[in-house]
Amino acid sequence: MLKDKKIILGVCGGIAAYKAVELLRLFTKAGADVNVVMTRAASEFVTPLTFQTLSSNPVHTELFNLIAEQEIGHISLADRADLVVIAPATANVIGKIASGIADDILTTTVMATKAPVLFAPAMNVNMYTNPIYQENEAKLRRFGYFFESPVTGALACGWEGSGKLASPEAIFESAASILTEKDLDGRTILITAGPTREELDPVRYITNHSSGKMGYAIAKAARRRGATVLLISGPTSLPAPAGLQLIKVSSAVEMLNEVMVRVADCDAVIKAAAVADYRPVVRESSKIKKSGDSSSIRLVKNPDILAELGRMKSSSNLQTILVGFAAETDSLAENAAIKLNLKNLDMIVANDVTQSDAGFNVDTNRAVIFFRDGSSKSCDLMSKDDLADVILDQIAMQIRETP
Ligand code: PMT
Repeated sequence: MLKDKKIILGVCGGIAAYKAVELLRLFTKAGADVNVVMTRAASEFVTPLTFQTLSSNPVHTELFNLIAEQEIGHISLADRADLVVIAPATANVIGKIASGIADDILTTTVMATKAPVLFAPAMNVNMYTNPIYQENEAKLRRFGYFFESPVTGALACGWEGSGKLASPEAIFESAASILTEKDLDGRTILITAGPTREELDPVRYITNHSSGKMGYAIAKAARRRGATVLLISGPTSLPAPAGLQLIKVSSAVEMLNEVMVRVADCDAVIKAAAVADYRPVVRESSKIKKSGDSSSIRLVKNPDILAELGRMKSSSNLQTILVGFAAETDSLAENAAIKLNLKNLDMIVANDVTQSDAGFNVDTNRAVIFFRDGSSKSCDLMSKDDLADVILDQIAMQIRETP
């Protein structure tokens, strides 16, 4: 999504400047070509060498640097950019740009670029709520500049309140969203993610290795593409993605209930969750005591949520596109085809979960997407973010083709 995009990362002087290092790492990991531009004050907090090493590009700190001007001037840097992100952005720099002042390398670059500009402000709460600052931000928003608002928390100055730099992940998401075509605008997509937890007693449960990474990647990609996203998630340790509705569940039955009340409003349902097929017949109210050398647990079948949706689709006028996942350890194509037909799906994403770089709890995946008409699409090893976009491309195409 950000592969080969040219991003200028502007860093202003503030204690949050160190977080720009993590943001740079997220950008480069996503394949972006990042040029860092720092104010003089910023280099008091983090050395240019840190950014230079991590970006593999020279860092720009001076407006008139003879060598840098000869190699790539600040204007051509501004011309080549696909996006400018300023994080942290101080009240001073935002005020200067709002007033048309360009007196250093960063303000000059922002004034000279035609690329979209995203500010991530960070400052003391009283500075942030000061009407002068607020008017400057409102003015820049009117001119089409983007903002990732600060969050509330303990500030470095000792105050508590709004003004804390948004997380690098949230700034990254905003940046990615700005550069993404909104081909799912006006569409509602429901995604399930993560494992389910089937409780045996107050301290034990049955679950699986799903981390939620695949489902969350799809949810974030759909959000970037303009969809209204409902993410129904089993227990995971992933942070809640911004800009979507996150519904947390624990068991398969809870997941079923949350899916069923929402499905009628959805253009597509993507079931990346690893739902437990069985749950204990009885959930004991107190901890099961140890007794004897062996023990057994009686299980009962869980509802198959996807099969239930498939039945609804064949017996009602439900138009929702149904996308399943198949976690397979053998006979990938055969097993996926059986699930596609049995559950009445439009497509199924089959992944071989025996491979160390695919399936459960890794950042990459390798899959084959099988379609209802018998065709298929192979997706070689790629990041879960990239696979998410391939799946959404197929959904966007089906939506376009539906009269
Ligand atoms: O979460 P990660 O760590 O990123 O791992 C990703 C993943 C391996 C979990 C994901 O890529 C994946 O394969 N998800 C589906 C796992 C699964 O339960 O597969 P299945 O073949 O058992 O089920 C087939 C389909 O039916 C799935 O879409 C599943 O959500 C759905 N199902 C299954 C059982 C059930 N009771 N209800 C269901 O809806």
